[in-house]
Amino acid sequence: MKILITGGAGYIGSHTCVELLNSGYEVVVVDNLMNSSSKSLERVQKITNKKIDFYEGDIRDEALLERIFQCHKIEAVIHFAGLKAVGESCAKPIEYYDNNLYGTLVLLNVMRRHGVKKLVFSSSATVYGSPERLPLDEYCKVGGTTNPYGTSKYFQEIMLKDVYKSDDEWTIILLRYFNPVGAHESGLIGEDPQGIPNNLTPYIAKVATGELKEIGVFGNDYDTEDGTGVRDYIHVVDLAKGHVAAIAKVNKPGVYTYNLGTGIGYSVLDMIHAFEKACGKNLPFAIKPRRDGDIAACYADASKAYKELGWKAELGIEEMCSSLWKWQSQNPRGYKD
Ligand code: NAD
Ligand code: UFG
Repeated sequence: MKILITGGAGYIGSHTCVELLNSGYEVVVVDNLMNSSSKSLERVQKITNKKIDFYEGDIRDEALLERIFQCHKIEAVIHFAGLKAVGESCAKPIEYYDNNLYGTLVLLNVMRRHGVKKLVFSSSATVYGSPERLPLDEYCKVGGTTNPYGTSKYFQEIMLKDVYKSDDEWTIILLRYFNPVGAHESGLIGEDPQGIPNNLTPYIAKVATGELKEIGVFGNDYDTEDGTGVRDYIHVVDLAKGHVAAIAKVNKPGVYTYNLGTGIGYSVLDMIHAFEKACGKNLPFAIKPRRDGDIAACYADASKAYKELGWKAELGIEEMCSSLWKWQSQNPRGYKD
């Protein structure tokens, strides 16, 4: 089965390509490389010893997508491409809605024209806004998002559900990721944020290499065990395997929503201490004010994915931190090395 991966050169996309290729799928990638490097795909091919057909270009380029669908017998699409930085989305809402919403519309239009009606979509725990209850299950209310990035994910989910309502031959699988971290065990692929990282674990990793001075802990007065924010960190390889499990179910039309998380919440201090163990150093940190828009705690009830897809996260906080450290120490400048 041949699968088109949009945004396949990115962090989650590249790890998913590895797992799909290792499971016997053929992979075609389209990526404009605006937040990634084609080196990630070279390394995916090195890890798997399998070939990827790569098209450098934008999913909003309808002629390009048309060409890809004409050249390949695509049977399903995994749609990662999009912009994902919460803070940047507040400054650039037009760019975010254009890329994330318009990009998805162009893709859907070309898929429909070619009769390809199987889509796995990268959604996010951010669609739950401020959690109604914890752990978050798929029946918790969504919406109430506080930034254009989150709102774009929420809107895309609605758009995709409407597509199914109009034509019940579609299979739409909405995967709501919690906090993906870590890297492939080879240390060859990993997260390569541009500039100063916004997210916690890449920031910690750059303090560990000495590139950044100290970790800022955004608030220690939340209603959590140690007062710092709690999240459901999931190893990116587990997350990638979740896509393989979803693709295996893509032949049954319908709209399906799954949380991909571990069900366990760790605090910011837990993550710092786990990373200290992985890298064998004490890491300097300082308590800072809360970050705007942050919530105290967010973790998943991921039992639906286990029941229906047979998928559950297998890797723990040690593997998350040790794999990230391997990637970061082998590639301190990411794919620029
Ligand atoms: P990423 O930035 O590493 O990957 C996205 C890829 O899409 C990049 O390679 C980028 O170059 C490409 N891209 C962006 N716009 C494009 C366009 N118009 N045409 C073609 N390619 C384009 O991000 P990631 O962390 O791998 O995230 C993948 C998906 O998962 C995104 O949709 C993101 O919103 C979603 N997600 C990520 C997280 C997270 O914490 N990383 C959490 C929840 C959901
Ligand atoms: N944090 C710090 N210091 C930092 C960075 C983060 O203390 O330098 C804290 C945050 O306050 C939060 C926790 O670490 O308590 C995690 O923050 P991240 O920025 O790593 O992740 P978020 O939970 O804020 O958001 C991430 C993605 C979103 C996605 C969400 C759920 O950035 O796009 O996970 O999947 F929607």
